[in-house]
Amino acid sequence: MFHVVEHPLIKHKLTIMRSKTTGPKEFRELLREITFLLAYEATRNIETLEIEVETPLEKTKGYAIEDKKMVVVPILRAGLGMVDSILELMPNASVGHIGIYRDPETLRPVQYYCKLPKIDDKSVVFLLDPMLATGFSALHSVDILKERGARNIVVVCLIAAPEGVQVIENHHPDVAIYAASLDRQLNDHGYILPGLGDAGDRLYRTK
Ligand code: URA
Repeated sequence: MFHVVEHPLIKHKLTIMRSKTTGPKEFRELLREITFLLAYEATRNIETLEIEVETPLEKTKGYAIEDKKMVVVPILRAGLGMVDSILELMPNASVGHIGIYRDPETLRPVQYYCKLPKIDDKSVVFLLDPMLATGFSALHSVDILKERGARNIVVVCLIAAPEGVQVIENHHPDVAIYAASLDRQLNDHGYILPGLGDAGDRLYRTK
């Protein structure tokens, strides 16, 4: 269920994001652009309904997605940088927020906020976090989403570490993961190598 979305545009844009000289404005724009491209693949299996549409010439068969069933859940705070792209594609999606920080000693997730819309077994939930590092925040979030009734969860991230992918695959083999890159490993502080540093700090210039 783990997919690296291979595309020259994604590779090019991600390389610019990785560079330590890229500033916050460009970093934010590139995150939006790559998320847009990732979303194209991450939504590939959503259902379409057959509908009738009338062109200026005649009636024909058309298709509609039920974007009201779509739920977008960024993990605060870096996931916020990915929300707008998904909403541009599916403007009627609902948005929930899960606030989690990593305890710097244990690297375990500490939840400080959770506000979710109605979720049921028909919902398609896109969980957004640019960095799937230890996987603990994503794991905690998937646990919450499943407790609320989600049965179809797609994790969308920019960079995944093998450790993070493994954690999700071990606990939730049904959850799909879409990433722009699978990087080498984590360092001792739980940062992805080579990675791009702290995505939240780079988005919001907090360091
Ligand atoms: N979160 C980040 O922002 N970067 C990492 O490398 C790991 C977790």
